[in-house]
Amino acid sequence: MMSTAVFDQEARHELGENLKFICQSKGLSQKALAKALHLSTATISKVWHGQVIKPTHYQSMAEYLTQTFGEDVFDLVSDPDDEHTAEVVPLEPRQNPPAMECQVITIAARKGGATKTTTTVHLSAALARQGYRVLLIDLDGQKDATEWLIDPEQELALTADNVLRDGQDPALAIVPSLHENLDVLPASAQMDSIESAMAGQWGMERRLSGLIEPLKSSYDFILFDCPAAMDFRIVSALMSSNWVLIPTTASTLDLKGLISFIPRVLHFADPIRFNPKLQFLGIVVSRVKRNTLLARDAQQWLGEEFEDLLFDHVIHESTRYQELAGYQSLIFDHDPEWSKDYQGVAGEILDRINNSNVKQSQAHTTSHGGQ
Ligand SMILES: Nc1ncnc2c1ncn2[C@@H]1O[C@H](COP(=O)(O)OP(=O)(O)OP(=O)(O)O)[C@@H](O)[C@H]1O
Ligand SMILES: [Mg+2]
Repeated sequence: MMSTAVFDQEARHELGENLKFICQSKGLSQKALAKALHLSTATISKVWHGQVIKPTHYQSMAEYLTQTFGEDVFDLVSDPDDEHTAEVVPLEPRQNPPAMECQVITIAARKGGATKTTTTVHLSAALARQGYRVLLIDLDGQKDATEWLIDPEQELALTADNVLRDGQDPALAIVPSLHENLDVLPASAQMDSIESAMAGQWGMERRLSGLIEPLKSSYDFILFDCPAAMDFRIVSALMSSNWVLIPTTASTLDLKGLISFIPRVLHFADPIRFNPKLQFLGIVVSRVKRNTLLARDAQQWLGEEFEDLLFDHVIHESTRYQELAGYQSLIFDHDPEWSKDYQGVAGEILDRINNSNVKQSQAHTTSHGGQ
């Protein structure tokens, strides 16, 4: 079934994707497969993405699948009429993204459950899949993004708590995620007590900005996943960012909350007192139920209220999102149709950043007399 004599990058990618597809269509999680084969989940993920050079891991995975599900399990991927075949999402081709200055984005919302973590994780991964080098910094003591993205057996020397509280070097805390081009600065449960620990230590909200500065030469994007409270952590993130993006669900209460939350966030863009680089990237509406009047009305109301600040792409409601974190999986691994939502938002982010850069360089040229 598999030739190991010729095993170039293309062959690895194709075989890895077939193995991944079979596992997912049989409901075999990375964790379960890792346990059966005595490998780490990170290795399983790398095999799925064609990143392991040695053929033996591919071989043992293929053997395990045929032993468990029968010789014809590979027909699943080779039969073009099989309805599952359409679900394979190929890795997007590397686009060799242009070199650009590192963009730091805070993802924040006033309320818990506004889809901050789901959005941060998927946007980070969408950008990483396009070839950008991405770092996700998890500032939430729930550790949802950390646990979603990194190998559970990964040992953590330091976490974002050590960075924020003690000023430790963030580079020492960064670990690889299970996905190519995406690293994580993990959170720890202690982080939720940081607000009281930092109380009265004026000016410490500016420290994170200086600490992450050296990381900017290693990454194209740094994204912060924040807790819901407007506390020391989110203020530190806003002081370190050049963009803030607000996800919201389309419920009436959340939309009302947006009106009061936006000025509170933009307060930190005050050039004299706070962060002159901070700009509003926009609002992403999430959990939009397809073909409902409420969703359409909410979208129309948001469009009138926030105009260009509203992203054109929305994230639709799907029960799949509730299952993904547990399987350490992403929507891109499951369904090309649903993947378009976050891929679309990631594309709009790139457009908005590029447009802003063009405007800034035009303004710069004009203010220097066109020289
Ligand atoms: N598009 C979607 N469709 C359906 N459910 C979703 C969608 N996006 C996120 N969810 C679910 O909504 C819940 C809240 O999402 P998430 O954890 O991302 O929000 P959060 O703002 O980070 O929450 P917290 O404030 O607790 O950190 C989760 O159960 C998640 O699986
Ligand atoms: Mg969260």
